[in-house]
Amino acid sequence: MTRIVPFPLALIVTVLTTHPAGADPVGAALFQQNCARCHGAEGAGGDAAEPDIRGAGVTALSRAFGGLNRMPSFAFSESQVRALAEYLSTVAD
Ligand code: HEC
Repeated sequence: MTRIVPFPLALIVTVLTTHPAGADPVGAALFQQNCARCHGAEGAGGDAAEPDIRGAGVTALSRAFGGLNRMPSFAFSESQVRALAEYLSTVAD
């Protein structure tokens, strides 16, 4: 008799294991939606002016979110800033 792995269970396991260990899915989503177009897919910097922001902490992020030169300002909640810092710590070298 053939054993059949229930499909939905297999799918859930796949979804849960596609994230790199420790990555924060909330921070990752915020990053992809708001930052990746300038700072690159994993925060390593854009083609020229956008700095590498991997490993940026809450303090550096809060300062940058007030708006810099070409960096636009953002109105994130405290927990969103923490989620972004958490995500950036997981992509840091
Ligand atoms: C429109 C392009 C753009 C977007 C979108 C953007 N940034 Fe920036 N960011 C920049 C540029 C350019 C700088 C360099 C300072 C300047 O010229 O304003 C910068 C600087 C920073 C710095 C300071 C780095 C340092 O070394 O001082 C941080 C931290 C940062 N960005 C984080 C973020 C995060 C997190 C997001 C998403 C929420 C984001 N940025 C979205 C363009 C962008």
